[in-house]
Amino acid sequence: MNPQLLFWVPVALRLSLFLIAAAVVGYFFGPVAGLAAGLICLIVLIVVQLNYLFLLSGWLDHPESEKLPDGWGAWTDIFSRLYKLRRDDERNRADLSEWLARFRQAMSLLPDGVAIMDDVLFLEWCNPAAEKHLGLNNSRDKGMRVTNLIRNPDFIDYIILGRYDQPLTLSLRDRKLIVQIIPFENRRQILVTHDATESERIEMMRRDFIANASHELRTPLTVINGFLEIAQSQPDLDQSVRMSHLKLMIEQGERMQNLVEDMLTLTRLESIDYPVRAEHVNIHNLLEQILQEAKALSGGRHKISMLIDGPDIQGSNDELRSAFSNLVSNAVRYTPEGGSIEIAWKQTEAGVQFSVKDNGIGISAEHIARLTERFYRVDKSRSRETQGTGLGLAIVKHVLLRHDAGLTIESEPEKGSTFTVRFAAHRQTLA
Ligand SMILES: Nc1ncnc2c1ncn2[C@@H]1O[C@H](COP(=O)(O)OP(=O)(O)O)[C@@H](O)[C@H]1O
Ligand SMILES: [Mg+2]
Repeated sequence: MNPQLLFWVPVALRLSLFLIAAAVVGYFFGPVAGLAAGLICLIVLIVVQLNYLFLLSGWLDHPESEKLPDGWGAWTDIFSRLYKLRRDDERNRADLSEWLARFRQAMSLLPDGVAIMDDVLFLEWCNPAAEKHLGLNNSRDKGMRVTNLIRNPDFIDYIILGRYDQPLTLSLRDRKLIVQIIPFENRRQILVTHDATESERIEMMRRDFIANASHELRTPLTVINGFLEIAQSQPDLDQSVRMSHLKLMIEQGERMQNLVEDMLTLTRLESIDYPVRAEHVNIHNLLEQILQEAKALSGGRHKISMLIDGPDIQGSNDELRSAFSNLVSNAVRYTPEGGSIEIAWKQTEAGVQFSVKDNGIGISAEHIARLTERFYRVDKSRSRETQGTGLGLAIVKHVLLRHDAGLTIESEPEKGSTFTVRFAAHRQTLA
């Protein structure tokens, strides 16, 4: 029905009821009494309305806390509609704050930083990643201008130029950040930050690796080319000189071959899925082979001993052979004539361990942490002299990573070194 009718019909009914009552009184007790009765009815009506108005105004002061009266006449409908409005409003508010909480939680889990600013770059809100990347504090810095908070000349230039369609790469607080400002709504802007430190590091490692590998390959190539040029320009060179040149060329060729093989091994190790296929590794056979190789490499110049007192393990035979023989051949190559080398396979409380101990040239402390980096060598010329590629320990590190094993290096210059590999207990096979 028409809402106007709905309101006015009861009002009219009530008024006519009063008029009839006044008319009845007037009919029986005379017109004065009738008028008086009508007046009293009117006054009662006005007082009732004023009372509800008073209640309504009281409720409007504290709509949250106070309960609405039930009302009378048209007021019943007004109050019930107000009550419904308030309930809807409460529900909307609860929905909104729940949604906001969910939005904030999602934002706080983002690995990328998000900061919301107004049109003149005053900070309104930022997530924890933005706090970390930009050194902000959401509660402390709210309402401050971001150019006062992020005092970086490149960032300030970016703001001044206002070319926000391009991201900016920023070095900030020891990190490489990719930063972009995105205007949204009419009067707001979002500052998005992405931490590119790790990808930058990997990219740099890749560049370094290529540069190092090219450099390592160029040196023997230069030597070989030099001798070939001599052979071409001086065909009647003395036979013994020629032989010595050939010997040097073969050495350099071998060096290149070792290098390429080690690079291929490293690439293979990196590209195969983790973890390795587990096969039974017969430690006795494996170490016996490695011992024979070490003796051949030493050519009787060292005293080499071996002790095997532990169970076999699960892993890749080929990879473990490559790792162990790298450690053993290093011991032989970095131990002067007359030195001794002890190879051991032992069961300890923490698990089974492989160790190679030598009393060779040793390594000073500042180098130890970097030894497993590719192409890292303490003494380049010595490593080359002994046919080293600088990749051996990088291969060891990769193999051990794939076998849940760790490498510890203890060493003292002039005294010698011990390289120890510890395997996690679950690698062990039951004897
Ligand atoms: N047993 C050792 N005694 C002394 N120095 C060692 C020993 N093992 C490794 N090093 C040092 O660590 C460097 C890196 O070893 P590695 O990665 O195997 O490369 P390389 O091909 O030069 O042997 C070596 O160049 C050497 O300086
Ligand atoms: Mg080596």
